[in-house]
Amino acid sequence: LASLPKEKSFAGSGVTLYQDFWCPAMLLQNVISFQNHFQAHDQDIILASKPKSGTTWLKAIIFTIVNRTQFSLSSTPLLTKISHELVPFFEFKVYENNEIPDLTSMSSPRLFSTHVPYASLPKSIQESECRIVYVCRNPFDTLVSQWHFGSQSSEFQSSGWTLEEFVDKFCEGKEAFGPFWSHILGYWKESTENPNKVLFLKYEDLKEDLTYQIKTLAEFIGFPFSLEEQRQGVVEDISKLCSLNVLKDLEVNKSGKYGSFFPNKCFYRKGEVGDWVNHLSPSMLERLNKMIEEKFRDSGLSFKYVA
Ligand code: A3P
Repeated sequence: LASLPKEKSFAGSGVTLYQDFWCPAMLLQNVISFQNHFQAHDQDIILASKPKSGTTWLKAIIFTIVNRTQFSLSSTPLLTKISHELVPFFEFKVYENNEIPDLTSMSSPRLFSTHVPYASLPKSIQESECRIVYVCRNPFDTLVSQWHFGSQSSEFQSSGWTLEEFVDKFCEGKEAFGPFWSHILGYWKESTENPNKVLFLKYEDLKEDLTYQIKTLAEFIGFPFSLEEQRQGVVEDISKLCSLNVLKDLEVNKSGKYGSFFPNKCFYRKGEVGDWVNHLSPSMLERLNKMIEEKFRDSGLSFKYVA
């Protein structure tokens, strides 16, 4: 491991090139434990994403869909726990400190999440019947969100990068779990070849029609809404509960801390499509557009940049 290439990065600990992606160095051992020890069950539901794509939001939604008969919306643990606790990251939590946890007694379906690219997931995830929900976000808003995140969670990330410098890092792919393009395209390809395995969602579509997206998601993960539930407005109630304003205002999300690095509040900022217009200069956009054109040209995948 010592010989792996390293880069100073937006993440204060630096990133290390591991299996073709830039892994935050402090998480590398956890990622390796995850790869070596995780045994997927067919019923598992795994949320995958590039950081700052709407992970926290999707965790709240998935947890609420799956547990809606167990907890009423007024007593759901979502009101008192950050969604990262309810749907833990493999690489930050489940396999932290070199621990090999016993996950066999968790109730089914087990809910997990990860920022690890598709190609580096443990074989048992790829080969079992478990389902993966992937959420992606347009590169401009992802980048701006990530840059802000860096300045808010300074214990984990260096706040030393200017936005200008970070645009360069992003275009080179040398940022946490990057390159951006290979992360997205890995899951995109799998979703087109194996749509029963990977549901590919876009942050912008969720913003546009959350009710429709929640129904699609619920069906995919095997928890569809009955007609009766739909008549009662359960889907709309879940969208409201999981909205940015409601979650951001909860005491746990205003004051708590996730692990030793992140104040919970840094996972909730503006939550808009198109905030990039307030940050990216014409020359930054030119560099980004060049990268996007080059990397996504033949993929059949397009992004939405405005609401
Ligand atoms: P912004 O920084 O653009 O506001 P992640 O959860 O993957 O770290 O992504 C964080 C981004 O999702 C932040 O974007 C955050 O504000 C936004 N977000 C968090 N919760 C949200 C919600 N309930 N609805 C919409 N966006 C949300």
